[in-house]
Amino acid sequence: MQIDWDNLGFSYIKTPWRFVAKWKDGEWEKGELTEDNHLSLHEGSPALHYGQQCFEGLKAYRRKDGKVNLFRPEQNSRRLNQSARRLLMPMVPENMFIDAVKEVVKANEAFVPPYGSGATLYLRPFLIGVGENIGVHPAPEYLFVVFCTPVGAYFKGGLKPTNFIVSEYDRAAPNGTGAAKVGGNYAASLLPGTEAKELNYSDCVYLDPATHTKIEEVGAANFFGITKDNQFITPQSPSILPSITKYSLLQIAEERLGLKAVEGDIYVDQLDQFSEAGACGTAAVISPIGGIYYKNNLHVFYSETEVGPVTKRLYDELTGIQFGDIEAPEGWIEVVE
Ligand code: PLP
Ligand code: COI
Repeated sequence: MQIDWDNLGFSYIKTPWRFVAKWKDGEWEKGELTEDNHLSLHEGSPALHYGQQCFEGLKAYRRKDGKVNLFRPEQNSRRLNQSARRLLMPMVPENMFIDAVKEVVKANEAFVPPYGSGATLYLRPFLIGVGENIGVHPAPEYLFVVFCTPVGAYFKGGLKPTNFIVSEYDRAAPNGTGAAKVGGNYAASLLPGTEAKELNYSDCVYLDPATHTKIEEVGAANFFGITKDNQFITPQSPSILPSITKYSLLQIAEERLGLKAVEGDIYVDQLDQFSEAGACGTAAVISPIGGIYYKNNLHVFYSETEVGPVTKRLYDELTGIQFGDIEAPEGWIEVVE
């Protein structure tokens, strides 16, 4: 199969190998790589009925020297287990998670896009509750799977800004599962996300579900703003996903760009304080936000067509670290060997 590495979007391309392991009778079986990209599940599996499932997303990056980098994979392992705890699923040991990710990268090495194409190999680990069941109970068995697919930009435009719209829907409840990476949050975001796209916006911006006054996050990424006095601010909330990219950017902004970097409240009616804004995440990387539509008004940040200078510097620093061109803070890069 010929892949046009320079023009990949974010869609599924089958790769040869995936890892599957089963949890049964209180322990994990060894697991193995398989070529079969379908799963066979009991019809009563709680993942299918009651959403007992969680997932992760991380990427493998081709370096200039041909080797392959993973970016902070232990953070994804930790977050998968936090999500699993919230839905009463068994822990996946960190070494099992990282070994599975590395095995999948190595087995599919031909699908790690070339250095310089901007594309990456997206890894999708997930944990699902399976087995015979009908009542609302935790599953008797679990599957841990890691598959991968080569991807380009998540939001069309990449580093070209796009517009977003504030949603009237909530993606998560104040004390619900917003901070866990569980499918239910994404199921809840399908209708608002589709409505936003029908109006030509890239995605929704969700407000805090308790007061609807503060920005929470985007459907598939966190939010950040750069204030006119050069602070990097990103929302703090118990109902958003603790984004690994966001925490990395907080550190990069402060240590490498010399900005004051804080988590705090971002009131949707006070966007004038920002000169730039963006969405950040593994899939989104850093996607500049041109404008946000709210209450019949499109609030434009830096520009609807040009990425702002601070956002660009953050992007260059983050992706430079991920692709191995810029020295990483200690422990951030794991080479697949
Ligand atoms: N918020 C949501 C809802 C997401 O789906 C993602 C993607 O993983 C993020 C934020 C960004 O998280 P991370 O930077 O860990 O990929
Ligand atoms: C990610 O960035 O890894 C995500 O999970 C976003 C999305 C594709 C759901």
